[in-house]
Order: sequence, then structure tokens, then C-alpha cells
Amino acid sequence: MNKKTLILIKPDGLVKSLTGNILTRLSETKLEIIAAKIVNVSEELAREHYKHLQDKPFFNELISYLQGGLHDRQKVMAMVYWGDIAIQKVRELAGATNPEEAEPTSIRGAYGRITSKGVYENVVHASSDEKEAEREIKLWFKPNEIIYDVYPTETKTLDQVSKRVWV
Ligand code: TYD
Repeated sequence: MNKKTLILIKPDGLVKSLTGNILTRLSETKLEIIAAKIVNVSEELAREHYKHLQDKPFFNELISYLQGGLHDRQKVMAMVYWGDIAIQKVRELAGATNPEEAEPTSIRGAYGRITSKGVYENVVHASSDEKEAEREIKLWFKPNEIIYDVYPTETKTLDQVSKRVWV
């Protein structure tokens, strides 16, 4: 079911103080926000997220961009939005991948740019289809970080797991 989508506000969006603006634009979709967090993106997570682009000449630069290496701001805001036709609604609002080709009123059209090295700094990520949405939501979030049961889960008892807890 096309009901949920992953959205990332990338480091350039955070550096440019666009979070509030982007959340306001997203509220126009009437979708519901069902998970949100700030993530310090590991290289492993960045590479897994963009693994379909690993053969592209801009891949290493893209990984550095998602990790905040181009902006001295090592964080990303990750969110899951829920509602009818969520994927298309958010993709439309985000605009085309290339900020120069994106509608000027879309988020990427309004705030994106192309770096001198040719990477599209396009402010947000939005899942492209249902399969990707599932892969990405499961990559970025644990089941208990999302307020709805968006995918089936199971309960496992894990031994020998170390966890950081409050003292
Ligand atoms: P892609 O998954 O093709 O697009 P989208 O983000 O719209 O789903 O590309 C992932 C990111 O890679 C894209 O947001 C910006 C970057 N990118 C470039 O820098 N140059 C390119 O030519 C392409 C295709 C993508």
C-alpha cells in the first residue's frame, strides 16, 4: 500500500535553517508525521541508503554530502510521513532530482543548487516508490520509533546485547 514514505532533510537543509519551512510545506500535503529524529549519519548508513548509485562517478561525494562533510553539520533529519498517495505527494513537493530542472516552487527548485563538483545539493530526500520506501524506512528506523505498525514485526529475545542507557 502506498501509504508511507521516508523524508530526509539533508545537511544543506539544516545549515540553511530550512527545517521549519520544509515542515510547513509538508503539512500542505495533509499527510501525517509518524516518526522523526535527528541522525548522525555513519558512512555505512549513507552507503546503504544510496547503494543503487554506487557505480556513479559522484558516489563518494554524495556519501560525504549526506554525512555532512560538505556543510560542517553532521546531521540529517529523518521522518516518516503517512497517508494516501504519500510517495507521489511528497515527491511532487520535493521536485526533480536536479535542482535546476525542478519546479521553482518545489523545495529542491527553491533551495537546491549544484556544487562545483557536480553534486546536486537538493535539500531533501523522498522515497521514489513503495519498494524503496520500505527499504529506506526499515534502514533508518526501528519499529518502536514509528508510532504506527507500518510493516509486520516480530519480537525476538536477544542475548548478550549491550545497550547505552541513562545513568
Ligand atoms: P536519485 O536516487 O537518482 O534521485 P532522487 O534523490 O530524486 O531519488 O539520486 C540520489 C541523489 O544523488 C540525488 O538526490 C542527488 C544525487 N545525484 C547527483 O548528485 N547527481 C546526479 O546526476 C544524480 C542522478 C543524483
